[in-house]
Amino acid sequence: MVHRAQRGKGADMSDQQRESQQKSSNVVWHQSQVTTEMRETLNGHRGAVLWFTGLSGAGKSTLANAVEERLYAMKARTFVIDGDNVRHGLCADLSFSDDDRVENIRRVGEVAGLFVQAGVLTLTAFISPFRADREKVRSIVGENFIEVHCDTALEVCESRDVKGLYKKARAGEIADFTGISSPYEVPENPEIRVDTGSEDLSVCVDKVITYLMDKKVIQHV
Ligand code: ADX
Repeated sequence: MVHRAQRGKGADMSDQQRESQQKSSNVVWHQSQVTTEMRETLNGHRGAVLWFTGLSGAGKSTLANAVEERLYAMKARTFVIDGDNVRHGLCADLSFSDDDRVENIRRVGEVAGLFVQAGVLTLTAFISPFRADREKVRSIVGENFIEVHCDTALEVCESRDVKGLYKKARAGEIADFTGISSPYEVPENPEIRVDTGSEDLSVCVDKVITYLMDKKVIQHV
């Protein structure tokens, strides 16, 4: 018998899905004495995920890191989980096929869910091209899932081409490249939308911080 407890508020549906995928039996959920609320009280802010999504080169990592710096200055407990970094370890076994991208986001969604239970302000920077996968993470995390769409035009991302990957993708040297030969499903109703092509980084950071304050995830310091 498997017990699941105390996950995000929207956890029920994904729990059912997980139950059907779960291969381990005879595992029983262990309830900790120190609760998420207690950790949040200690930290002085709520746990939440700022889920940055968008094309490669849209500024996800840059913005996530700039927001983290601002939050750190406010004495918040933070952590950035970055797509390129995770693919060096936790997800080093995954390619950029559709199936592997689904698995990439599933793993990161579960990890982000744990960080939220730890009361941490978690910032993730993943292309996360599929709407259904992002919604699955929302169902794991619950009301503290904040989707931030880095809505930067493909032309802008391609003209930046910081890593030279668009050039390679156009030349056919990289398969399944998002925006070129692999799809990106635009978020329909993100909590926050920024365009790093037309808005200064500091303006984008302000937008995110203002949202967190309005929702009382963090308090003024
Ligand atoms: S995701 O689609 O599974 O969410 P993820 O965010 O982990 O992608 O990784 C994206 C990063 O991997 C990009 O920023 C880019 O640097 C690199 N990359 C390498 N190959 C590809 C590819 N085929 N498509 C997109 N990004 C790629």
